[in-house]
Amino acid sequence: MNTLFTNARILVSTGEVIAGCLGVTDKLIAFTGEVPEDFKAQRVIDCEGDLLMPGLVNAHTHLAMTLFRNAADDMELSSWLRERIWPLEDQLTGEDAYWGTMLAAAECIRGGCTCVNDMYFFMDRTAQAVADAGIRAMLGQGIVTGNDDGKSRLALAKSLFEEFDGAEDGRIKIAITPHAEYTCNKATLAAAGDLADRLGARLHIHLSETFQEHEECKLRHELTPAAYLASLGMLHERTLLAHCVHIDEDDAALIGEAKAHVLHCPQSNLKLGSGIAPVPAMLAHRINVCLGTDGAASNNNLDMFEELRLAATLHKGVTGNATDVTAKQALSMATVNGAYALGFNAGRLTAGALADIIRIATKVPNMVPANDLRSAAVYSASAADVRMTMVNGRILYENGEFYTIDIDRVYAEVGRIVERYGL
Ligand code: NI
Repeated sequence: MNTLFTNARILVSTGEVIAGCLGVTDKLIAFTGEVPEDFKAQRVIDCEGDLLMPGLVNAHTHLAMTLFRNAADDMELSSWLRERIWPLEDQLTGEDAYWGTMLAAAECIRGGCTCVNDMYFFMDRTAQAVADAGIRAMLGQGIVTGNDDGKSRLALAKSLFEEFDGAEDGRIKIAITPHAEYTCNKATLAAAGDLADRLGARLHIHLSETFQEHEECKLRHELTPAAYLASLGMLHERTLLAHCVHIDEDDAALIGEAKAHVLHCPQSNLKLGSGIAPVPAMLAHRINVCLGTDGAASNNNLDMFEELRLAATLHKGVTGNATDVTAKQALSMATVNGAYALGFNAGRLTAGALADIIRIATKVPNMVPANDLRSAAVYSASAADVRMTMVNGRILYENGEFYTIDIDRVYAEVGRIVERYGL
């Protein structure tokens, strides 16, 4: 199957915009620029000068938490979790997780996000929803110690990997995802680290999200959370660290040297009063910083364009330096950096890369004049400007229509579920 986009302006990478055509063959980008003579397209889409850019990568989220959107607001993380979220999650079923994930997938697709990194429960049902919706995802079974040293969750994580890693033509990957230092004891964390090593899987964990968590780890282990992970041999190039709000300079150096990745979630950190991650310091230590929304219960949406703009503006306000976190850097975080951390050859529109592509309207008031499209993508565009979303060479959404999701069914099922929760 060949698809040809004509008359487009193409954000090939965060450093380059060209005018011309883009061809897709099966799941890969075949070319950009001039159309090769032998390229015969089954479908031709005239982009009318609109912007084609890489689909956004949401590098840290909990998809099914869309069910708990607006259910627990204006609370700090510890009471948000203990008093509100954990009691709700105790009632969660596999079917709930499926429909919550379908709702999340619809929001992602409509908002130009093509790839997500998710950590949650009932992940076999989440994987099924991801398979059905057509998005790209790295998924992990949340692991906590509980009352069996995490053994039951670790077993689920292993069977999830065996069943779904590489599934759907490589669209789904499985990571090993211990929740955090404060919810896993040393035995659980070490076992998760071992399992990830044996499987060659990525490790995804919350780290130094709040000041309290960071300080309590130091009291428990005489090490910061980053140094503690390193002491367990769990800080390496397959490690993805969500938040890192309270890491210090030594932690940043350690994370940078280990080539681990940081998943920056500015909006969730602000809303939960957790603080602002020291992203300029992370960049100075050459850390691969990616961008995520976190779950919809702490954000309260999965809008990566909001996150993109926040990443490019927030740190300027903190440091007083308007050159901190440029549009180019923020765009890299939301595209190529995230894809790299997750191990997908995506996040740039070059021949041979996975065809995860979005089309952004340029003939809407907030995008005119569309002269610097890289800046426009960060500072002017919104999720509402997404006209088309393609993942793995397949168009999932176009001009308001979902091709893989029965959106009315999703609304009905989610309505039924939240009624049961009394939300
Ligand atoms: Ni999270």
